[in-house]
Amino acid sequence: MRMYDIIKCKRDGGELSREEIEFFVNGFTRGSIPDYQASAMAMAIFLKGMSEREIADLTLTMAHSGDVMDLSRINGFKVDKHSTGGVGDKTTIVVGAIVAACGIPVAKMSGRGLGHTGGTIDKLESFPNFRTSLTEEEFYDNVNKIGFAIAGQTGNLAPADKKLYALRDVTATVESIPLIASSIMSKKIAAGADAIVLDVKCGDGAFMKDIDSARALAKEMVAIGSNVGKKTVAIISDMEQPLGFNIGNSLEVIEAIETLKGRGPADLVKVSLTLATYMLILAGKAKDESEAMQILNDAIGSGRALDILRKMVAAQGGDARAVDDYSILPGAKLSGECKAVESGYVSRIACEETGECCVVLGAGRETKESEIDLGVGIVLSKKVGDRVNAGDVLATLYANDEKRLDEAVKRFECVYHIGPKAPERPVLIKDIIR
Ligand code: URA
Repeated sequence: MRMYDIIKCKRDGGELSREEIEFFVNGFTRGSIPDYQASAMAMAIFLKGMSEREIADLTLTMAHSGDVMDLSRINGFKVDKHSTGGVGDKTTIVVGAIVAACGIPVAKMSGRGLGHTGGTIDKLESFPNFRTSLTEEEFYDNVNKIGFAIAGQTGNLAPADKKLYALRDVTATVESIPLIASSIMSKKIAAGADAIVLDVKCGDGAFMKDIDSARALAKEMVAIGSNVGKKTVAIISDMEQPLGFNIGNSLEVIEAIETLKGRGPADLVKVSLTLATYMLILAGKAKDESEAMQILNDAIGSGRALDILRKMVAAQGGDARAVDDYSILPGAKLSGECKAVESGYVSRIACEETGECCVVLGAGRETKESEIDLGVGIVLSKKVGDRVNAGDVLATLYANDEKRLDEAVKRFECVYHIGPKAPERPVLIKDIIR
């Protein structure tokens, strides 16, 4: 078998056999297939798609490209959560702490930023000394003791996805249903939870721009989950504008902490509590949405969820004082404002471009090797539907490099759209696929 022929077959719209998919995935994981052939393959899949059978084969081969975790050493019913990626999406930090405070063990494997979207692992590294690389022992022990641990994808958990994910990030091959579904579900299968709640983002800032493709991705992943015996629910949530006000690693950590203190922005609270609701229901902790809400609100109101975050950060070597003193987190020396040039209502915030501006500021990667700046980002002052007067500050951009700040401020000028009439507020939860 030759990788050249496999790429050519997919390039020409052919269907790959299981053996061909295994040849590609296993060869790429071992290093016998180089990055340039894997990139060409990813692009061919991106352009030509895959059948259901190919997606299932790709997912299972990637899931078994390394270790499959045995979470039986963690007591209780384990529910995992995963987002398809968005701008300002810090829900994992919020949801993980709240759900753990409700007595459900959260053993979470998370990723780094991808394209214009952020990643939980990068965000958590804002806590000085926080370790996202844990031994299996530590990971299990921390979940058993605290209820919550977040680790980066270890070298041997779905290593095929780990390599392909990093390559897709820099080869414009992210926004593809077969590649996203197999990437997420291979990790979820390898990570070994009993049930999975997925947050499929939909809109300009998401990889799925419209509701039909978001539904197709959600259905694909729910079907894969059910086929391997894991109860899976997918929520389709709005990503036409950033979630919350803060975008950028340490800025998002601050907003997640504020949410656990009961002061979160309404949209972030709503998406987080919806995801947490379904985690409680799947774990059998709540019989319906209203019971789940009571339990979740108590976990926040009592301070238990915030305390779980403190303990998780400390157990992973991070400086948990940052939960109460944000000056300990990385910051930015420079800032620039974007102001409204006319009065009216915010009719649109170009969400993907907001994420790209964050990458320009240094919050995301331009190449696989790029170092990111955890202290930079954007704080929005206005959201879609808000009334603005000419001269009002719409957003503040934070940077540590003057050139980057100038470039981002210039690009950001096209992000806000102001219209004469108040637009309808976006529907946050667009669908739930069970
Ligand atoms: N999240 C993932 O883990 N993989 C993707 O491909 C996209 C989002």
